[in-house]
Amino acid sequence: MPKIAPPPGVSDIFPDEAAAWLQLESAARKVFGLYGFGELRTPIFEFTEVFQRGLGGETEVVQKEMYTFEDRGGRSLTLRPEGTAGVMRALAATDAANGVEHRVFYMGPMFRGERPAAGRKRQFHQVGVENVGRPASPGLDAEAIAMLCHFLEEIGITGFNLLINTRGVPSDRPAAEQALAEHFRPHLAEMCEDCRARIDRNVWRILDCKQACCRPFIEAAPDPAQFFSGESRAYFQKVCDLLTEQGIPFTVDPRLVRGLDYYVHTVFELTHSGLGAQNAIAGGGRYELQLPGLRTPIPGVGFAAGMERLLIVRDALGVTPPSAPVPKLYLASLGDAALAFNTAFAAKLRHAGISTAIDYDAKSMKSQMRAADRMKAEFTLVIGDSELEAQAAKLKHMADGNEIPVTLSLDGVLSALAAAETK
Ligand code: HAM
Repeated sequence: MPKIAPPPGVSDIFPDEAAAWLQLESAARKVFGLYGFGELRTPIFEFTEVFQRGLGGETEVVQKEMYTFEDRGGRSLTLRPEGTAGVMRALAATDAANGVEHRVFYMGPMFRGERPAAGRKRQFHQVGVENVGRPASPGLDAEAIAMLCHFLEEIGITGFNLLINTRGVPSDRPAAEQALAEHFRPHLAEMCEDCRARIDRNVWRILDCKQACCRPFIEAAPDPAQFFSGESRAYFQKVCDLLTEQGIPFTVDPRLVRGLDYYVHTVFELTHSGLGAQNAIAGGGRYELQLPGLRTPIPGVGFAAGMERLLIVRDALGVTPPSAPVPKLYLASLGDAALAFNTAFAAKLRHAGISTAIDYDAKSMKSQMRAADRMKAEFTLVIGDSELEAQAAKLKHMADGNEIPVTLSLDGVLSALAAAETK
């Protein structure tokens, strides 16, 4: 059979893997529901300007990673590289724009044209939340972080590191930017080409640079928060206090800026050593997102976790994923009359909630038993002419070989299955 590989950086998710994905998704629905969040499903593509304005034209994502195309009407559209901008585009049409709180979560595929590597894909999946509309409040920021930790606990992920920092507000930044530029400028000749361009375009991006030649200068950079207003620093201190009061351990990382330009005040990232180089399992923060047509930006706070990365970490921690669903019952048929009976019987059993497998081209008994084994069916029922005549058969429990006599009726089989279950 010829194997046609999908494009680089995208993957199929087969049924035996899907069980683990479903488990993450239902844990997210459960935990986020406890905090009053409801699901918002936004389109996979948006007008390009939603991301350009929303994420900031200077960001790596907008400059280098978006999948942008023109539709037949000549409109520029982009596959969503993240969820926040689309959520804000949707909520901008509601009373969120007038300060009313909206609590939403989302999950689904995102697209970034990055160099594929372990844990870094071009189509990846995020599960995220956004609390939108209310003015900035340390309580909401701490709640978002607590919710993320709660979700990780629910899916069995322990041992993560929570890094937090403050980006201040726009009026805090000029003094910090000047101090950073003064610090880096004398070393530019020794720094990477990207950072040489960043110093004038967006000096904060330098703090994000991973190049070995830049790291010593980044480590030695002044903490930008020392140039922020007393109000902004008090806001951040309150977030830290609230986390401490809730027993959530964290590290303040003055170099954490996050890759998207919409952040103000609190930013955070969760890393895990089980991931290797791509060590961020989740990230988020408070933002003020500007969109085309909006008079003032809308405030919000939220986070997104990468589902592929959550699954890698769970694997590394040895959390057993749930197994794919297996049939409860395999109906084997000996002869045409038995096959006709089993076809109708399978339909009745499925309607009664019993997952049932059957082979419509029933060949030898041996091949049907092999199929039942391969599917890991819990029970088998072999039907032939004599069973049809007697209206009775033997329900075989595959794990221990025990055979239970049953009458060949829906009630007969259902009660035998129920009795076997309670044993
Ligand atoms: P982000 O840090 O760009 O934030 O992405 C969040 C998470 O998505 C990352 O921590 C990572 O786990 C996962 N991720 C990102 N890119 C990839 C990739 N190429 N392959 C696999 N996983 C990836 C945001 O997207 C913000 N919208 C988060 C947010 C919500 N901030 C406020 N509200």
